[in-house]
Amino acid sequence: MRNIDEHTITDAVLQSIAGTSNPRLQQVMASLVAHLHDFVREVKLTESEWQAGIDFLTATGQACSDTRQEFILLSDTLGVSMLTIALNHAKPAGATEATVFGPFHTADAPQVEHGTDIARGAPGLPMFVHAVVQGPQGEPVAHALVDVWQADDDGLYDVQRPELGDARRARAVLRTDARGAVRFRSVLPTPYPIPVDGPVGALLAATGRHPWRPAHLHFMIRAGGYQPLTTHIFRAGDAYLDSDVVFGVRSSLVGDYVEHAPGTAPDGSVVDTAFFTLDQVFVLARA
Ligand code: BEZ
Ligand code: FE
Repeated sequence: MRNIDEHTITDAVLQSIAGTSNPRLQQVMASLVAHLHDFVREVKLTESEWQAGIDFLTATGQACSDTRQEFILLSDTLGVSMLTIALNHAKPAGATEATVFGPFHTADAPQVEHGTDIARGAPGLPMFVHAVVQGPQGEPVAHALVDVWQADDDGLYDVQRPELGDARRARAVLRTDARGAVRFRSVLPTPYPIPVDGPVGALLAATGRHPWRPAHLHFMIRAGGYQPLTTHIFRAGDAYLDSDVVFGVRSSLVGDYVEHAPGTAPDGSVVDTAFFTLDQVFVLARA
């Protein structure tokens, strides 16, 4: 393996990994090397561009911490996350579609009773959610775990507010009742920009892209005998539905957040501002 040039180097690398014992790793690595080399040849990558790429990836790794995953953000903004989801979560007709998980879920959200105000002080207009989880035949799915999380009216998740410490708000876990339903109060989600103070933000700016996601509520639903579902419900009419920075919008996931004048809310409380209601059905595919 000497005198390698730009034409022979790809085969040389492929031969060097031919002994990989894990066949899937062999397939993935061989394809990655072949595409990477083709890319370098196609754009005739210069040495300073190669160095800029190395610096970018180094900065992306250095921006990662326990509460920040810049590589996932990079994958999201390059459409790789949604492409992987589309390939792996083809749902049967009628089942609710999946979308990106995002970096803001936490495993320590409080489990709450129906009717709880999960905002726990997060700013925003009141919102009352009634969600029903069904199986493919319309059967109610009782005892499903419904994990919900969202940004507040300032476009921030609790984990983005250092002043909150470990306090959790605008997120919760509920269990569906015998009719497959959960009910909770929260605040209306609004559009928000993904974090732009790192290398991914710089790349978005350099490529002429905005950093906004349309308003949404995150749901992760798990129930025995059904496929887990990770999805969002977006808000109809949002200005960013057709330019989501992470390509996560599906028409079937646009929900009807209905605005109401001040008055009596669905839980019987009297609200002195405008408030919103969302009635949403989720259909799980069988495991
Ligand atoms: C989110 O919706 O929480 C999210 C998803 C992808 C990247 C950044 C944020
Ligand atoms: Fe989000």
